[in-house]
Amino acid sequence: MKSLGIESIAKEHSTPFYLIDPESARESFLRIRKSFPENTIIAYATKANYSPSIIKLFSDFGLHFDTFTAGEVKHLLNCGVDAEKIMYTSVTETKEEFEFVLSRGVRFFVIGSLNGLHNLKEVTEREKMNVDVLLRVQPIEHVKAGTSTSGAKSKFGILFDDGKDSVRNVLPKIKGYLNFNGFHFHLGTQVADPRFYVKAIDRVMEYVRKNEIDIKILDTGGGYPFQYSGETPPIEKFGKAISKSIDAWRKALGNFKLIIEPGRSLVAGSTVFVARVVNIKELYGRKIIIIDAGDDMVMVKRHKVEPNIKVLSSSEEKEKYLIAGNLCHSADWIIEEPITLPRVKPGDLIIFKNVGAYVMNHNLPYGLRRKPKVLTIADDEVTEEPHPFDIAYQSNMD
Ligand SMILES: Cc1ncc(COP(=O)(O)O)c(C=O)c1O
Repeated sequence: MKSLGIESIAKEHSTPFYLIDPESARESFLRIRKSFPENTIIAYATKANYSPSIIKLFSDFGLHFDTFTAGEVKHLLNCGVDAEKIMYTSVTETKEEFEFVLSRGVRFFVIGSLNGLHNLKEVTEREKMNVDVLLRVQPIEHVKAGTSTSGAKSKFGILFDDGKDSVRNVLPKIKGYLNFNGFHFHLGTQVADPRFYVKAIDRVMEYVRKNEIDIKILDTGGGYPFQYSGETPPIEKFGKAISKSIDAWRKALGNFKLIIEPGRSLVAGSTVFVARVVNIKELYGRKIIIIDAGDDMVMVKRHKVEPNIKVLSSSEEKEKYLIAGNLCHSADWIIEEPITLPRVKPGDLIIFKNVGAYVMNHNLPYGLRRKPKVLTIADDEVTEEPHPFDIAYQSNMD
């Protein structure tokens, strides 16, 4: 996206706004597809970015979709996605949500608790509906990642042998209208090294071999990192290591399908956020830029991903700045350690790059600020799309 274009868009649409370029998501998708074996099912983790233009693009490419709420399922259906392409991996696993998504045609479930299995069983028996089930497991405890979903601090999935929420206890109860298809894991987001996936695959498949379990599917979740900055192994390395491991296990135990669920790596690079400098102040020798947006519009701090910043300033001079947001709380820092930027003045634009994953759906209503516009650019034409607040409202109307 050219900076010049952004200046003219900012004249027409007041700041702050997100600007999505679906073409960039298309390129990421093609790169991921090339990196994994040809028959891999790619299920986009819908939670990463709800933009209808992104969903339509992936739907046109034949992708499947990973969801975790009834609202997400409704949104996908409203965007024209076929229910057969939707997998449902809930955190709560209640009867009500199962009833709802079944009524909308979803037939593929990832289950991560004994209670969840009982609920799905009861509802499918009542409705007399056959569904496919994967069991979500935690194959390894330690994963180096932006955020890990594995180990003693995780609430996700089940263990192999220990306790009520274990494969040993849950698997024999999958019967009747439930067809066991295999295993699922999701290690975290922005996973640092492909070897964690290989270790996790080995752990699952050794369990499969030892217990002579028949599987049709192994789902290795998402977490493949986006290259924001610094040393991140490219997606090709993840694809290569995972393909090699899957290949070896297929040779040893027979064929099974591979599903991957990328979110961040597909969409992070698709979106920029444009904000305006509204104030500059000096405190304790620090120059602080204040913008017309908060940290919630630019980053998700628990993901430990720093935004990439570009200032549109005509000044040749450089200054060291911190950047703070417009929220009335003291943690609202975007840049807390001084960085060198062209000298700015109120009215200048700041562009935050690579904010396409998880950022706009973490915006807060705090402060009752005007919500940022969500704009899409294709063939030099700018179109406005609904903000996740509007999508959530629409998806939960009934
Ligand atoms: C079950 C599941 N699959 C896939 C993803 C996507 O992860 P990422 O965006 O890091 O690829 C998530 C993210 O939370 C998830 O919970």
